[in-house]
Amino acid sequence: MDTKTLKQSFVTYFNSNPEFIVQAPGRVNLIGEHTDYNDGFVLPMAIDRAVWIALTPRADSRVHIRSLDLETDSAFDLSYLKKGEGWAEYIKGVAYQLQNAGYQLRGFDAVMTGDVPRGAGLSSSAAVELATARAFASASGFVWDAPRMAKLAQKAENEWVGVNCGIMDQMASAACREGYALFLDCRSLEHRHAPLPEGISIIILDTSTRRGLVDSAYNERRNQCEEAARWFGVKALRDVSVQEFERETIKANNISEVVLKRARHIITENARVLEAVEVMKAGNTKRLGELFNASHESLRDDFEVTNEALNIMVTCAREQKSCLGARMTGAGFGGCAVALVNKENAQDFTRSVSTTYRQKSGLEASVYVCIASEGASVVES
Ligand code: GLA
Repeated sequence: MDTKTLKQSFVTYFNSNPEFIVQAPGRVNLIGEHTDYNDGFVLPMAIDRAVWIALTPRADSRVHIRSLDLETDSAFDLSYLKKGEGWAEYIKGVAYQLQNAGYQLRGFDAVMTGDVPRGAGLSSSAAVELATARAFASASGFVWDAPRMAKLAQKAENEWVGVNCGIMDQMASAACREGYALFLDCRSLEHRHAPLPEGISIIILDTSTRRGLVDSAYNERRNQCEEAARWFGVKALRDVSVQEFERETIKANNISEVVLKRARHIITENARVLEAVEVMKAGNTKRLGELFNASHESLRDDFEVTNEALNIMVTCAREQKSCLGARMTGAGFGGCAVALVNKENAQDFTRSVSTTYRQKSGLEASVYVCIASEGASVVES
């Protein structure tokens, strides 16, 4: 992102230079899908697409923010936050949760822009939330505590915006490091920065389909997982191992096939994340690719959150010799897949997959190499 243009826009609106420029990235999840709300493990990385805010603190409690992309303004007072509609709800929701947690906030004047595609499964809303939290931290002078900010941003999304997401996206946007994936335990929020293996590229394959009735399907999956956890007599499916699952479900009769399939995805996916972290450390990219593939199959057959476009895209990716593995990423029902590809073949791969995807689906994909980037940060002050 060219911060010069952002600064220039700030000057146009507020007749002075901004005091801070902050950013928070979108994310791509490498493996560990739908495990976050089961207290499980995930392995996302921040991508080189983000939301940027240029701001100057104000002496009072007013926030005035211009969205450069939507070409609209929002203005509100921090001492009188009221729910409304539209993009500014993410900003207000975060402000509300920060204040509720005891942070003393100052208002600010700001312009905001971003290049995380919306509804693509790359967490554009978490990027807005964390950029907002980072802006308030700069304006109000409080210390950045990534897990705390992630939790408050998730609360804003759950309670103010009304989307019942887990913690993965906010933690990825808040806490990732350049060059690393984030191995996160979603129960304790303990996390480790896992270096990406040498010689591979992470490629995002956007099917250009967008999720439809995702909220109801997402909530339905959550309820099924909770039902399964109750059946196993545990707090969350995280507490069931693959061996226990197999042993206890052989003669299961008072639980539906569908709920068992959902549980099998979560339980095997948690095991795949743990193995992925190990094989990444050992530089075993071949095995990492196999885990990607197994994850997709499980999401397609057991969790049933892929759509036709995602399945076609994954097939197109795997047809390429340079592809070590590919899977859908994010909530599913549309959006993006992610592929692990030999670095020297990355350009050929993106070209070939775009062509074969067009032939097989009739749709235009966007396919791009992505760089593991820094979580929410102050870019200039
Ligand atoms: C969405 C949610 C996350 C997570 C993923 C699926 O991105 O926001 O919390 O549940 O879906 O892994």
